[in-house]
Amino acid sequence: MVDAMEGTKGEKTGITRRRFTLGMLIASGAGALGSLFALLKVLVPEKKAGYVTTIQPGDRLVYAKGGNMGTPLRASSFNVGDAVLAFPAGKSSNPANLVQVIRLKETQFGPPTHLDLTDQGFVAYSAICTHLGCTVSWVENQQAHAASFTECFCHNTIFDPARGAKVLSGPAPLPLAQIGIKVAEEGTLVFTSQFTGPIGPQVS
Ligand code: FES
Repeated sequence: MVDAMEGTKGEKTGITRRRFTLGMLIASGAGALGSLFALLKVLVPEKKAGYVTTIQPGDRLVYAKGGNMGTPLRASSFNVGDAVLAFPAGKSSNPANLVQVIRLKETQFGPPTHLDLTDQGFVAYSAICTHLGCTVSWVENQQAHAASFTECFCHNTIFDPARGAKVLSGPAPLPLAQIGIKVAEEGTLVFTSQFTGPIGPQVS
């Protein structure tokens, strides 16, 4: 009787141990999966929504920052190699409208730049990095303008503004979209088109 009872007790203890071990395995498996998902989320960030531009052809470009913020860009203020961040006038509350305007030598441009969207060496691209959406910066080489470039310092993507802002290095998956600009009669700069491609983060 005692043996029989001990046998039953032993079986119960065995089952309890097995359940406990199974529970621990499930819990640690769930924990590992959670860590894996968290890691994947960091490595493969979600595509951010909301980058919808409201730029229209004819909109005048104004400085996006600095002492001249809000005032129109004038072609005469630019030397070859200069670059600024700009918004369409009255539309600065939408970050998708931020562009980088650069003046290069006309002879510097090569494919796939849309030459018909440039004027007198002025070219404009979306200033929102196609990786995770940081604002790009201009890195000027005063000795050799051809060696100047656009860089996103968040993860060090380098874009070539003389070649359609194609990616030279770094994690950004696409070039910065170009948008048409021209010098208007009174010397200010105006947009002439929509963006040539998607803007904002393109990582999905
Ligand atoms: S956000 Fe620009 S390189 Fe990552």
